[in-house]
Amino acid sequence: MNNVGGGAFAQRTVTREGHEATLALNYLGPIALTRALLPLLSPRSRVVQVVSSAFGMHRGDPFAAPARYTAVAAYAHAKLLSLLATMSLARQLDGTVTVNAVNPGMAWTPGVQALTPRAVPAWRWIWPLVRAVQRRASPEKAARTPTRLALTPDGTGRFYESNGTAQTLPDRLRDPHLQDRAWQYAAAAATTIKE
Ligand SMILES: NC(=O)c1ccc[n+]([C@@H]2O[C@H](COP(=O)([O-])OP(=O)(O)OC[C@H]3O[C@@H](n4cnc5c(N)ncnc54)[C@H](OP(=O)(O)O)[C@@H]3O)[C@@H](O)[C@H]2O)c1
Repeated sequence: MNNVGGGAFAQRTVTREGHEATLALNYLGPIALTRALLPLLSPRSRVVQVVSSAFGMHRGDPFAAPARYTAVAAYAHAKLLSLLATMSLARQLDGTVTVNAVNPGMAWTPGVQALTPRAVPAWRWIWPLVRAVQRRASPEKAARTPTRLALTPDGTGRFYESNGTAQTLPDRLRDPHLQDRAWQYAAAAATTIKE
């Protein structure tokens, strides 16, 4: 379960390997870990990549960083690439290992609690309302679909919404070449990660 992630960096931050930090946290790191674990996976193994509906906010070229950095824009970009790479892995493993992506939906977790209006400038005028809604979002409920995917075989190469249903990806994201490029980009970046 690649659960690590979030829109944690209010200001653009670069890792010591030279990767934008939100990309490293949500996409490069989890894919590097998954790659490293591949030799240990058996036909009964399941990979669950936790993404977010925010991926839909990144329009245009998936490999182009947002024109203006905000935490939410960087997060959307990273989750889009993470989703694409996950679909590539599912095809590469061809059903021998189950690989799916899931949006857990909103949850009042430490990562969300740490957000400030600066992370999502478009919401700054309605921030008290946003916080009231976020506070009511149960982490237990958000964990249900990711947990189900980890525990029960349920197809492969799918994107699940928080309500537990598999969703068809937009046409622009179903291109196998695009998906493979997202996997290869992360694989190349993994070689730069220092211990
Ligand atoms: N919460 C939501 O509303 C929501 C909505 C859609 C998708 N998601 C996704 O669901 C997953 C879990 O989110 P969450 O809200 O539970 O996030 P979270 O409270 O921030 O925790 C996620 C995990 O990521 C780790 N983490 C966060 N920032 C890190 C950093 N800079 N370096 C290393 N580890 C870091 C945390 O480690 P520590 O415990 O050590 O801090 C924690 O184990 C994420 O992939 C997130 O993008 C969440």
